[in-house]
Amino acid sequence: MIVVLISGRGSNMRALLDAGLPVNAVISNRADAEGLSLAAARGVETRVVEHRRHATREAFEAALVDEIDRFAPRLIALAGFMRILTPGFAARYAGRLLNIHPSLLPAFPGLHTHERALAAGVKVHGCTVHFVTAELDHGPIVVQAAVPVLAADDAAKLAARVLEQEHLVYPRAVRWFLDGRLELGNGVVHVKGSDAQLVLPRR
Ligand code: GRF
Repeated sequence: MIVVLISGRGSNMRALLDAGLPVNAVISNRADAEGLSLAAARGVETRVVEHRRHATREAFEAALVDEIDRFAPRLIALAGFMRILTPGFAARYAGRLLNIHPSLLPAFPGLHTHERALAAGVKVHGCTVHFVTAELDHGPIVVQAAVPVLAADDAAKLAARVLEQEHLVYPRAVRWFLDGRLELGNGVVHVKGSDAQLVLPRR
């Protein structure tokens, strides 16, 4: 049902598994991704498609697509997958490719979101699950969770507070998708029969 793409730790992948979601396979672009052994220990098929072994982004993606399509997934979930995808990849899986990003998009797309949030002095930060489109970290938003930015925060403390929310909202978004409850119109996502697309800050 679901193929999860990771590059490292895999804690969001673990949250999907913990939620009992039907993950068929976990694919990493790095052989040393910690999440691979975790997935294997849970009896999930794992594959490695190393970007380094391919001369171009297109060649890497062609190999990745081959592996993904073997599992004929309904959904591809990016979970800390640290490769920029081509518009062709996004188009191939349009409407069934989700990502989790550690900021309240459209603020802070790209890397180092927690450092940038602290430097900007924002008082609310968080995470976003969104559909992937050709534009990096800009697709239709499925769910967001907000957390306060506290005076004593450093990037690690803020990241931990956000990560806790990531683990809450990503399984929720994936469940909505599998239940056919996500409606996409004019670039905006509505969830049938739910207003839980926002998780508000707690102190
Ligand atoms: C998460 O913060 C995710 O939002 C971001 O990269 C991090 C990956 O963490 N894209 P993990 O591998 O899921 O633990």
